[in-house]
Parts: sequence; structure tokens; C-alpha cells
Amino acid sequence: MKILVTGAAGRLGTVVCRHLHEAGHEVLATDRMRDPSLPMPFVVADLAVREAAYALVEGMEAIVQLGNIPNAGRTDAQTTYTLNTAANIHVFHAAAESEVRRIVFASSVQVVSGTRKLGDDAPSVLPHLPFDGELPPCPGNTYALSKQAGETALAYYTRMHGLHSVAFRFPWLVSQEIIDGLRAREDGKSIHSRLAGSANPDEGLSFLRFEDAASLIEAALLRAPCGYRCYMPAHPSGRLHALLPSEIARRHFPGVPHKRDLDAIGSLFHLDEIEANLGWRPAEARL
Ligand SMILES: NC(=O)c1ccc[n+]([C@@H]2O[C@H](COP(=O)([O-])OP(=O)(O)OC[C@H]3O[C@@H](n4cnc5c(N)ncnc54)[C@H](O)[C@@H]3O)[C@@H](O)[C@H]2O)c1
Repeated sequence: MKILVTGAAGRLGTVVCRHLHEAGHEVLATDRMRDPSLPMPFVVADLAVREAAYALVEGMEAIVQLGNIPNAGRTDAQTTYTLNTAANIHVFHAAAESEVRRIVFASSVQVVSGTRKLGDDAPSVLPHLPFDGELPPCPGNTYALSKQAGETALAYYTRMHGLHSVAFRFPWLVSQEIIDGLRAREDGKSIHSRLAGSANPDEGLSFLRFEDAASLIEAALLRAPCGYRCYMPAHPSGRLHALLPSEIARRHFPGVPHKRDLDAIGSLFHLDEIEANLGWRPAEARL
């Protein structure tokens, strides 16, 4: 498959480019900054420029849209929103007018992280657990707001142009080295207590290794049916947790209804739908 990967010089982008290249796809990498170590054609371009997106999508069958400012606080709030929204709309619009029929977009778990921003003692407004792609957006900052706008735009272009598209609300993406480093700092103790220590899904309840995110992106490019889907992937670390998922839910999300028995699935994140639809599970991580 001829695949354009944006944000190719970034942490996730480099891993995705190498994974798709090694799997035999024809990858065109693009970013604002060059990464000379990548073994495929590379175009330096700014996606905030409309014409740049048109030139990049030409001849492509699929796009992996990663090229965004990757968190709140990297620049001012307004710039984060406007640059990300411009980049996403330029890529999706140009793709919809071209031969591209498959798009994967890196959204963020932060799209629902505003559910507890009412105050520490306020009840969560999360409508249900476990976390899944059906949760309605409730962004807590303009980065998350830009991801919500990106999801909405992708769903719109998918509906209007008959695309196969997936938005992944990625959690904290980590390398095995980061996991090992956390473990070392905790004198060999499991990192799960740390991962369970926060009430916000983006601040500790979940993570995914870059390699697993890359294999998931390829699975979506190959297997996503026609239409728009949104998923919330995570490493199923809950099963190894010191605390049962139901106990974490009771402490951090009191009163939130459970769509499934959290202890039976062993996690606050529900992966069965991703597995059934895309044939993907994360590889075992050394935790
Ligand atoms: N790292 C995480 O924990 C995490 C979690 C959830 C979602 N995501 C999303 O995954 C994607 C990749 O994240 P990452 O961690 O690799 O971030 P990163 O900052 O390492 O990579 C993003 C890349 O996008 C490029 N970029 C940004 N705006 C651009 C523009 N207008 N035109 C061209 N290139 C542009 C940057 O130069 C950078 O190389 C992002 O969309 C991010 O929001 C990341």
C-alpha cells in the first residue's frame, strides 16, 4: 500500500514509518523537520499550509495523520488549537479529493480528560466505564479540543466521500526504555501503582508502547471497514494491577455506571471491539 505518514520525524512517526516499511508498504514520510535516519523518501512540509497537503497526498492510497503539536503547554492554547485544526483539515480535505481511501488519525485519550476538571471533590461526568471510543468528547484543554475537532472532521469526510477511517484516542505512548526507567526508579517495584495513581486516563491510568501503536495503525490501514470508527486502545495492564479495576473505578470514578464487569475484563479499557474488528492485541510488555 502507498502510505503517507505525517509527523514522521516524531516519536511515534519514526516507529510507524519503520514498521510499515519493514512490513513491505511503500511509505512517503513527511514532517516540518527532516529525519535523515529514516530509510524512505522524505518530504519537508508544513501541513498548516493548504497547498502542501495537496502535493503530499498525490498518488497515495492511505494516510497516517500524526503531524500535530502533541500536547497542551507546548505553545499557547490558541496556537495549539489553530495549528492542529489547520493541519488536520488540510490533510483530510486534500485526501478526500484524491485517490486516498484509508485514513488513520492519532487522536488522544485527552478528548475525554475534562470529565473531572470540575474540581477534586466533584463527581465525574464520565457517562460510562470502561473507556472506549463511544465516550462523548469532554476535552479539558485546547489540545484535546483540537483532537475533538479532528475526529469530527474525519467523520465528516468519511461520510461524504465513502472513506475507511479510524481515529485512535491514544493514551500515554511509551518506549520499553521508559517503562524500564520507571521500574528502576521505583526500586524494582511494579509501575502499576504509579499508573493507577491518577484519576485522569491521560495521567497514568493507561499507556501503550510505540511498537504496539504502530502495529495497531497498520491493522487499521489493512482491516478497517468502510466508515468511521473511533477506538481507545491501551495496554491491558489492569490485569497485573495491585488494585482491581473495580477498586480504581470506585476511588476515582464514583457513581459512574459500568457497561461491563471491569474485573472480568481485567482493565478500565475495553479492547475486545478492537480485537474483533481489527484483529489486534498489544504484545506482552515487560512490566
Ligand atoms: N506521545 C503521546 O503520548 C501521545 C498520546 C496521544 C496522542 N498522541 C498523538 O500522536 C501523534 C504523534 O505524537 P508524538 O508523541 O510522536 O509527537 P512528536 O512531537 O514527537 O511528533 C509530532 C511530529 O509532528 C510534526 N508536526 C507538528 N505540526 C506539524 C505541521 N503543522 N506540519 C508538519 N509537521 C508537523 C512535528 O514536527 C513532530 O515531528 C500526535 O498527533 C500526538 O498528538 C501522542
